[in-house]
Amino acid sequence: KRKMILDLDTGVDDALAIAYALADPEVDLIGIVSSYGNNLLDICAENSLKLLELLGHTDIPVYKGLPHSSTTDHFDVMQVSKDIHGDNGIGDVELPTPQRAVEEDSGVDFYIEAAHKYGKDLIIIPTGPMTNLAAALKKDPAIADLIGNVTFMGGALTVDGNVTPAAEANINQDAKAADEVFKSNLPLTMVGLDVTLRTLLTKKETQQWRDLGTAAGKAYADITDFYIDAYYNLDIDKNGCALHDPLAVGVGIDPSFVKTISLFLRCEYDPDSPFYGRTVGDNAKLNDPNPNVKVAVNVDKERYLNAFMDHLTGLFKQ
Ligand code: BDR
Ligand code: CA
Repeated sequence: KRKMILDLDTGVDDALAIAYALADPEVDLIGIVSSYGNNLLDICAENSLKLLELLGHTDIPVYKGLPHSSTTDHFDVMQVSKDIHGDNGIGDVELPTPQRAVEEDSGVDFYIEAAHKYGKDLIIIPTGPMTNLAAALKKDPAIADLIGNVTFMGGALTVDGNVTPAAEANINQDAKAADEVFKSNLPLTMVGLDVTLRTLLTKKETQQWRDLGTAAGKAYADITDFYIDAYYNLDIDKNGCALHDPLAVGVGIDPSFVKTISLFLRCEYDPDSPFYGRTVGDNAKLNDPNPNVKVAVNVDKERYLNAFMDHLTGLFKQ
């Protein structure tokens, strides 16, 4: 079986990504690296521990990554993140305090060890800022040629950003890290707003989880309903919430959910540029025979949503 690492700023849709990965028979989730973004690093890490406990997977280690980008010295949670994900990051649903702590080793070292141990069998799914992955590449550049696949949620190629017209939230947190990852020679697939904003979940589906009558089904329905309500109230989308992060997990396992174009991508990281955070074709390299990123530009929504519901319902039933 292929091995998977999730790098999460847990977050409602990150919570859905955990469930998808755990439910998939083709991959072993070997660990979660924590990031900052939807909330502070410590809260995001604690959310991952709580969710793993809820889902009966206390065997999966959670590591701490870095608490802020390499270009800043601190991180503050944006109010809009709290409005979308709740003050606690998981829809203000109260889950029991976790029985275990995060690992002592750093998430950056875990990346490096796993890359050397599993090589091409390793899939990495960053669904927060790419600060941790960029730090691992800096510490051990050799991992770029070892790792099998990196499918990240972030960026926007054909649509506007969701934080500024240029920047998607994960890239906005650390555009320099994103650019370093793009330049690294890692095999990259971008699952950005181009496809995630088209892949929506409604309360019809979350009700099916609640109807299972299990603790996991109820908690995930409540967590996700908070997010669906936020999408409605903030007028992001009246028809449901975007499955940003779980779509990246699905595509990491089965790339045929999306259509991609191969492109030499870079990220604008000059903080003074109005285009800060834009993921954009590098016009000096558009004819380069070795494009660095496969960018998802279309998605088979119906097939993905069916797979998503099969995965999550199967998991919550247990
Ligand atoms: C991304 O930003 C975060 O708020 C979400 O969890 C998702 O990873 C969407 O832009
Ligand atoms: Ca996320």
